[in-house]
Amino acid sequence: MRRTPIVDALQAEEASKEIKICGWVRTRRDAKGFSFLELNDGSCLKNLQAIVDEAVPTYEIIKDVTTGAAVEVLGELVPSPGKGQKWEVRVTKLALLGSADADDFPLQKKRHSDEFLRQIAHLRPRTNKYGAAFRIRSEAAFAVHKFYRDKGFFNVHTPILTGSDCEGAGEMFRVSTLPATGVEAPKEGSVFDNDFFGREANLTVSGQLEAELLAMGLGKVYTFGPTFRAENSNTPRHAAEFWMIEPEVAFADNVDNMDLAEEMTKYVVKHILENCADDIELFAKFVDKELMGRLENIINEPFARVSYTEAVDLLLAAKKKWEFPVEWGIDLQTEHERYLAEEHFKKPVIVYDYPKDIKAFYMRLNDDGKTVAAMDVLVPRIGELIGGSQREERMDVLLERINEMGQNPEDYWWYTDLRRFGSVPHAGFGMGFERLLMLVTGITNIRDVIPFPRTPQHIEF
Ligand code: 4AD
Ligand code: MG
Repeated sequence: MRRTPIVDALQAEEASKEIKICGWVRTRRDAKGFSFLELNDGSCLKNLQAIVDEAVPTYEIIKDVTTGAAVEVLGELVPSPGKGQKWEVRVTKLALLGSADADDFPLQKKRHSDEFLRQIAHLRPRTNKYGAAFRIRSEAAFAVHKFYRDKGFFNVHTPILTGSDCEGAGEMFRVSTLPATGVEAPKEGSVFDNDFFGREANLTVSGQLEAELLAMGLGKVYTFGPTFRAENSNTPRHAAEFWMIEPEVAFADNVDNMDLAEEMTKYVVKHILENCADDIELFAKFVDKELMGRLENIINEPFARVSYTEAVDLLLAAKKKWEFPVEWGIDLQTEHERYLAEEHFKKPVIVYDYPKDIKAFYMRLNDDGKTVAAMDVLVPRIGELIGGSQREERMDVLLERINEMGQNPEDYWWYTDLRRFGSVPHAGFGMGFERLLMLVTGITNIRDVIPFPRTPQHIEF
């Protein structure tokens, strides 16, 4: 007999004579002549209650059915007299699939700190909070794909191993073919001569440049993949490995880009509210009491839009003691970004037209010669959620910018070559997927929205 996921059992239309449920025991309570089990199988936040009468043939194993153990039960799905649950299972057959020593199992029925749970990343998906976070992660990824598919974008797969540095920030992980410790020493002429590609190779920091190449053939594309940054930023908002959503659109300018970024953010937030109600409620109740208001605001209110120059004026007028002093030309820091979104506008704000000197070489130079057609979406509690720009489609200006930024145009011959053949205005952006998840869950540490976070000094498995 097939097992019924708990999410389906709880929504059953009618009682059923025989049902099979598999799951992990959250709690067991014993009464005279029977026991109550709260079972969870990860399919939803809610548990299903199972009642095991001592008349059940295998009742003697109940002592081993402790918190954390895995069980399979056969039984009858009947209306539950208990509050808050429609159905429960009267067990007729009970089997223990895997025990969990009650003295050793770390997840006891109390609230554990996030720090503690990070140390047991292999077990934390079994808690309410992380189960909810990872279900939302899955649904949000689906929403991203649905959004772009419905708008006629093509999903393209850009390489993880690259020979270029998209952001020009030099924050790349170098890939080597040196053998792992304990593995036989490299033989000459083998792949272990650390020259596999015949040139330096890195893990990608962004799929943008390749996405641009594809947009010049397919029109509207997006990538959604892992990216890597070797920045030593031990902050709650940076990870060494994170996922990025990067649309790239031909025949589009920076205003189109801002419109797309706003529409996509609203779409995913709305999709999560509509499809993950129970999980979101958990976060609204226990993690962030203002979550619902903020998410409703994101969906219903237009984002603010200001130029970088206006943003700097607002910061100067704020009369705040900044850790990083404000003047025209600085790169906005998280404290500035959060002030604008959280305190000044009290909603997401898109800042555009940044000074060219603090932005990457590929951003389109504005007519003032000082700024580029960049745009960042800043959101309350997080700061930068999205970074993007219109791209420089003019060959001469692009080459000048590459040189100006101290980079070698030869390294980008394939990128500049595109400007020789049917170059068109185009634009795109990158949204950090983990930052989006922090926004929708209210979770304040990036380590808690990705199952196995990679940050400086942390790579357990
Ligand atoms: O602003 P970034 O560096 O932009 C780019 O990489 C562009 N090539 C994207 C594009 O135009 N296609 O990064 C984009 C976003 C940031 O706004 C942020 O949300 C996220 O990626 N991000 C990080 N998220 C987690 N950990 C890090 N270390 C991140 N660095 C950037
Ligand atoms: Mg950025």
